[in-house]
This record gives sequence, structure tokens and C-alpha cells, in this order.
Amino acid sequence: MTTQELAMLYPQHLCELERRAAEALERGGFDHLVVPSGTVHYQVFDDRDYPYVVNPQFKAWLPLTRNPGSWLVITPGKKPRLIYLQPFDYWHVVPQTPEGWWVEHFEIVVIRKWDEALQHLPQSEARCAILGEPQSALGDDATGRFKPNNPPAVLDYLDYHRAFKTPYEVEMMRGASRSGTRAHRAAEAAFRAGKSEFDINLAYAAAARQDASELPYGNIVALNEHGAVLHYTELAREAPDPVRSFLIDAGTSFHGYACDITRTYATDSGGEFQAMIDAVDAAQLKMCDQVRAGTDYTRIHLDAHLAIAGILKDFGISKVAPETALENGISSVFFPHGIGHGIGLQVHDVGGFAESDRGGRIANPDGHPFLRLTRTLAPGMAVTIEPGLYFVDLLLDKLRQGEHADAVDWDRIAQFKPYGGIRIEDEVVCTDGAPLNLTREAFAAGAAEPGAA
Ligand code: GLY
Ligand code: MN
Ligand code: MN
Repeated sequence: MTTQELAMLYPQHLCELERRAAEALERGGFDHLVVPSGTVHYQVFDDRDYPYVVNPQFKAWLPLTRNPGSWLVITPGKKPRLIYLQPFDYWHVVPQTPEGWWVEHFEIVVIRKWDEALQHLPQSEARCAILGEPQSALGDDATGRFKPNNPPAVLDYLDYHRAFKTPYEVEMMRGASRSGTRAHRAAEAAFRAGKSEFDINLAYAAAARQDASELPYGNIVALNEHGAVLHYTELAREAPDPVRSFLIDAGTSFHGYACDITRTYATDSGGEFQAMIDAVDAAQLKMCDQVRAGTDYTRIHLDAHLAIAGILKDFGISKVAPETALENGISSVFFPHGIGHGIGLQVHDVGGFAESDRGGRIANPDGHPFLRLTRTLAPGMAVTIEPGLYFVDLLLDKLRQGEHADAVDWDRIAQFKPYGGIRIEDEVVCTDGAPLNLTREAFAAGAAEPGAA
């Protein structure tokens, strides 16, 4: 999308955030919402800093992700104020003068030293809901001014509503999906060329035009058995011999918004593992189609267990009906994580368990502790759908020692174990009608580009 398109969508986004802020402040009994962008963190006993990560409550308002020491002040009925730190600094690149589609909507005050912010923050600190981390306080953590108080009533409201993306945010996520799928295609090509995990990851970063500190999470680039480690991030320097399979879970960022995409490939396109990938892919598409208003996300998770258990049976791994596999925990041995999560400003977006915008928690179903979203879907919610089927030694050993050991065929498991596992992950937006699959849309658009393989 073009900058003009973003400029057209942005005012409605800002208006919605101002409406949410006004209601959140009312509920908390405050006059101002104050949001520090955050500060640089240092390694223990060292003067080396960690990569700066912006406060998500800050980047929700405007696409600034590299500006430590800045502040936002939202006062209902007034133009939002941005206190923008452009420090005197010859060690680092100083943030450039603000520009872009959002600038005209803010009163911008440039400061040169971090503590000058005090002159431009509201007079009465006690009337402020301040959202951020303790070390954003101006001065010492303990005695500093404008130390974040993170009022629960304010956060409950904002976090709950963060789930509903504005059209501007959907475009941002679309932008992330475009660069993410471009990088995924490059990674697949590197895999097909026989590269190592390390080199596939380099190919991914080159195509994404992003380095590790910009990506929304650590890339999972796993060949063969490594696909069975859910968050495998080792990046082996040498390719195994033979290469059988490839699982890649990797995203990109776009103006602070994330994408989160997983694909699995096999070298033998006529083999059983490829057939299993195709079966998971077909089941995943049906799950994506369940992302509809009024559907309980927990239902999608439990249906995914039944679908995976059905695939296990079709491939001669499980000997029991899918309902039995779900009931006695066999499906969880092979699918030991949640079906997905909310996504947007954070790869695992906040508010996944929120019962209402006044707090409360919707519990996970018994036996499914890793599900990160238990809400009922509604238009505007963006979620991932990421079923998996893995051969994890630790979980298989427990199954073998337990009362359901005879419910599976161990010879069949031994045949699939060298392939690690399968995960297929898309990002899907719930609408008033059919779901919008940002990932499939971006893969299709990329394939249609001139020169696409
Ligand atoms: N990449 C982490 C996840 O899929 O949730
Ligand atoms: Mn995910
Ligand atoms: Mn993922």
C-alpha cells in the first residue's frame, strides 16, 4: 500500500484510539494518558545495551519504533502531544525530524535532553495514567517523576479493545505479510538449494531487508528432526545429510506491526511426509475458515485436535477415534501447543484471555494450558491459525510409559520421527463475512509478481 493510502486511513485509526483513551481514562478516574516510548536497557555489569524495543502502548499511536526517551500525552478534547527526544549525541544516529502521514495530527515538541520532557508533561502527575515500564521514570526508578502506574482499569480497557484492528492496522499487517511471504519464498529456495539452517536464515533476512533486532521474534529455521523442537533457534552451520524436511516459523515487522508465518516442506515431493504436510495444510485451511464472528476460539482449538487426531489415524499412527485421542491426551502428544493467538503490535498480542473490558479472565480448557486466546471472535480481531503435528521425544517417551502406549503404532512413529514435525501458520482477520487470510493473500500476490518462481 502507498503512503497516501495509509494517510487516508490514519485519521480514523487515531480517532478510534482517542475514543478508547477517553473511555479508559474515565473508567480509571484520570485526566491524561501519558505513554513513554521506553528507554535503552543495559546488560548486567556491562555498558553494552540490548536492542531497544519500543513500548507497544506508544507505537499503537504512531509508527515510531526507534525513539527512546520520547513521550505521548493524550488529553481528551485536545490534539495529542508528542514530546520528541532528538538528543545531542555524536555516538549514535540521532532520530530524524518527524515526518510522515501522522505528523500533522500531533502537537510536536522537540526536546534535546531526556529530562526536558518534564516541562511538557501535565502539571499534575497524580491525574495521569502512565503506561510503561518502571525505568521510564524521569530520574531514579524509586523517586523519579512520571513513574508508570499502569492502572488496571485503564489497561483492562485498552488491552481488551486492542484485539479489534482498525482498517489502518489491517493495512499495516498486510504490509508485514507482504515482506514476510517474500522472505519465506527466499528461504524455501535456499532450502531447495541444500543450504544449512544458518544460510537459509541469511537468505530470509536478506529478502526481508530486516536484521534480527527488527524481526518480531527469533526465527525458527529447522531442518529434519529439529522441526520437533517447537521454538528451535539454534541455526546449525552445516546442512544435515540427507536433508528430508524443513520447518520455518518466521515473521517480519512493518511500522511496528508483526506477521507470524510458518510453512513446512519436504524434499521428497512424492513421499509420505509430503502427504502428511498436505493433509495438515488442508485441515488448516478449514480451521482458517472458522475465524468468523461469534465463534469461540477455544472451539477452533479443540476442533484442531480432532482434525490432527484424524490425520494421525489416517496415517496409521493412532489406532483410536479422534474423540478418544482428544479425551485421553494422545492428540496433545503430537499437537502440544495452542491453535494460535491474537497478533498485531505484538506477535502474541495482549488481551487473549480478557473476559470483558473491565477485567476478568476466560480460563483455558482443562488439559490445554498453552492456548493463548480464549475469547469469542468478533469483526476486526486478527489471530493466527497454526496447527502442528510433531514427533517430540520427550512427549513420546511419556506416552510409551503410560497407560495409552498401545493406542499408537510405534513402528509408524519411528518412520516419521526423522522428519521432525509440521506446522502451518497463517494470520487471519475476522470480518462481518468471510475471513480475510492475510498470509495466503500475500503468498498469492507474491507468486503473481513478475519474476516470481
Ligand atoms: N512464532 C511464535 C508463534 O508462532 O507463536
Ligand atoms: Mn504464532
Ligand atoms: Mn509462528
